[in-house]
Amino acid sequence: MDLYRDKIILAPMVRAGRTPLRLLSLKYGADLCYTEEIVDTKLLNSQRIVNEAVGTIDYRNGDDIILRLSPEEKGKCVLQIGTNNGESAAKIAKLVGDDVAAIDVNMGCPKPFSIHCGMGAALLKQTDKIKEILTSLKSAAIVPISCKIRCLDDQNDTLNLVREIEKCGVSALGVHGRRRDERQGDRCRIEEIREVVRCVGGDLPIIANGVSGEINTYSDILRQKAESGASSIMIARKALATPSIFRKDGGILSKYEDIGNFLDLAAEYDENYTMTKYVIQRILGSDQEYDPRGKATVEAGSVLEICRAFQKEDVYEKWRKERQRKQSKRKIFENP
Ligand code: FNR
Repeated sequence: MDLYRDKIILAPMVRAGRTPLRLLSLKYGADLCYTEEIVDTKLLNSQRIVNEAVGTIDYRNGDDIILRLSPEEKGKCVLQIGTNNGESAAKIAKLVGDDVAAIDVNMGCPKPFSIHCGMGAALLKQTDKIKEILTSLKSAAIVPISCKIRCLDDQNDTLNLVREIEKCGVSALGVHGRRRDERQGDRCRIEEIREVVRCVGGDLPIIANGVSGEINTYSDILRQKAESGASSIMIARKALATPSIFRKDGGILSKYEDIGNFLDLAAEYDENYTMTKYVIQRILGSDQEYDPRGKATVEAGSVLEICRAFQKEDVYEKWRKERQRKQSKRKIFENP
């Protein structure tokens, strides 16, 4: 299975890894993109809808879009779930079928909301639970499965865990080179990722993660990938601050070009205000404080107002009207 081999990947990111940033990353040159982590119960309580007005498959709960998939990411989008239960994971696999290219389980999130529910990094100390989740997911899924872990406090424990995960039949393993109690400012343990690669010996694609701090150019991505020895590499923070880091040719773009390209997709895919603002603020960084467009973003109360700050009002209106046209056409078709 080559899905995860030799790939440059947009890492899972809550609030950011939604349709517009995923599509932007793919357009720039990422090979694969992960969704934000979606907690199992949220997805299981959602309804699958073919959204003709936007041209997507939506999983929604009322007005809340839990997951929106564009045909342009077909075969390239990995759904990441948060779970501590094999049965729920299997139900998700049945629900999404092959709407997504693969399903990944988050076993690395150290945040209290994840750990309190026995998800994310809480799983790292429960090998039996990990096996239960992965084997039931594997037997129910028609797409490849993978998981993403952090390094354990003792490297031998990491390697033992990796061997157990490999036996569950996963198609790839993401390794964030930090321990559960380490934070982004701490150095990425790339040598421990290299040990994991050596341990699985090429049979299982390893995805190196945690090196955003070392990346300023596309060549840095390739260098870090080579240094880790891993089959693939996954980028989070750098891809959020500078999505054009995925451009193989031509280098990164200015933050305002990245924002413009992101807003085109946010308008087309009708992204909500909170998520749109979050990504733009992460791209803006300190420009929020002194650039007039940055200040206008901070003050904006809607996607339209954010678009206005970057002279994208016409794009916003174009897609809004397009959705309205498709919706009314559908109504006429349904109620002639
Ligand atoms: C994350 N990370 C993360 N990890 C995960 O497995 N599922 C998730 O939903 C999230 N959400 C998330 C949101 C945001 C805003 C950030 C910055 C990070 C962790 C992320 O995928 C990655 O493991 C780390 O950020 C380390 O990689 P980088 O940033 O060095 O490339």
